[in-house]
Amino acid sequence: MAKLQAIRGMNDILPGESLTWQYVETCFRRVVKQFGYQEIRFPIVEQTQLFKRSIGEVTDIVEKEMYSFDDRNGDNLSLRPEGTAGCVRAADQHGLLYNQQQRLWYQGPMFRHERPQKGRYRQFHQFGVEAFGMAGPDIDVEVLQVAAALWQVLGLTQYVQLEINNIGSSADRKQYGAALTAFLAKHEEQLDEDSKRRMHTNPLRVLDSKNPDVQTILRDAPQLADYVSDESKQHFAELKALLKSLNISFSENPRLVRGLDYYNYCVYEWTTDALGAQGTVCGGGRYDGLVEQLGGKPTLAAGFAIGIERLVLMLDGLKLVPEEALQAIDMYILPPSSEDTAASMLLAEELRAAFPALGIICHCGGGKYNSQIKRAFNAGARLAVIPEPAEKGVLTAIRLRMLDEEGKTETVSKDELVTKIRELLSNSGD
Ligand code: HAM
Repeated sequence: MAKLQAIRGMNDILPGESLTWQYVETCFRRVVKQFGYQEIRFPIVEQTQLFKRSIGEVTDIVEKEMYSFDDRNGDNLSLRPEGTAGCVRAADQHGLLYNQQQRLWYQGPMFRHERPQKGRYRQFHQFGVEAFGMAGPDIDVEVLQVAAALWQVLGLTQYVQLEINNIGSSADRKQYGAALTAFLAKHEEQLDEDSKRRMHTNPLRVLDSKNPDVQTILRDAPQLADYVSDESKQHFAELKALLKSLNISFSENPRLVRGLDYYNYCVYEWTTDALGAQGTVCGGGRYDGLVEQLGGKPTLAAGFAIGIERLVLMLDGLKLVPEEALQAIDMYILPPSSEDTAASMLLAEELRAAFPALGIICHCGGGKYNSQIKRAFNAGARLAVIPEPAEKGVLTAIRLRMLDEEGKTETVSKDELVTKIRELLSNSGD
């Protein structure tokens, strides 16, 4: 029978890679904790309506990319294509939003039926933060600070650039959209099919067109900046001043409109040249209207999401994952014979108690020294712990062999064991 394969665009994360994932997750958790954000977990499946009403009916995500299906009750459900909608639904449903301030974070898989390529998948993972109940621009900047702190911890600061834009309120954008549609209508015959369709349904998305001919036409198009309210300009100016005071570099990109409809005022993306075509590692902004749009009380909100696959690709490509984060196994114990199994397993217990942070395998399945030591090397262990045969069930002498190039070996008594191991491992470069 033919073997079944994973679904295209949905990746398995194998043991070698999962160490990098764990490293990134640990760093992210540390950073959000430092900023006082708390974790929220919400389902992967929600009513399709939730995403339609938040992300917007006329967006690529809702029009083309959602995994939607009728369940056995006939309810139309979707795999979440992003986290903000579910986060807002959950926080509002449980009364976390009304008259309160919240700083929340989440992490997990998202699903979009896009054309897979490097850095773009159908199941991908995001870290997200969402802050509720604060007017800003201080909170907008705080949220950006969280991302900047993560880049710092991961050593990525020099590889990412922040682009920001003020997209005004949804009323501002409606007015601007009308002006843009009128402009595009004059050039309709030069537009591609996608832009012709979007010109009427969601004209701002035409600004994102990758078609160079469309971009040429857009050079003379009306500018969103001329339509945004004074209030949003003030907010944006204060935000930029704060970013400067905090030494967070940025550039303004008047073309940046984002692919989701719920934003207002400041939107942003962090991009990198280190990834090729899929260079956006983080996107976000304010979305003050969303909670109300989903049936809650008006609630100010701001947040971002980071694509974890893209982070992992960057860290691997730039070799920025520290050695110790990639060290899964530290010690490998080689029982000399089946009579010594119990004594060796007990020794492993003792060593795990003495070195709680280290990975310690006690060889299972028998075999000669040569095949066991091969397993120790294959496991990537740093040290082989090789007891001499036990005398009346008690281990006395133990050989230690470093599994590096030098291969230093020495035999110690049981009493000296922990001290000697500590010495050997601390001398081995970390
Ligand atoms: P987004 O820009 O759609 O925003 O996605 C955020 C990040 O997720 C992107 O910058 C990218 O790194 C990653 N990403 C998106 N699609 C894919 C994909 N197909 N494969 C791999 N990575 C991908 C949002 O999702 C908003 N919910 C962000 C937000 C939170 N805004 C406010 N709060």
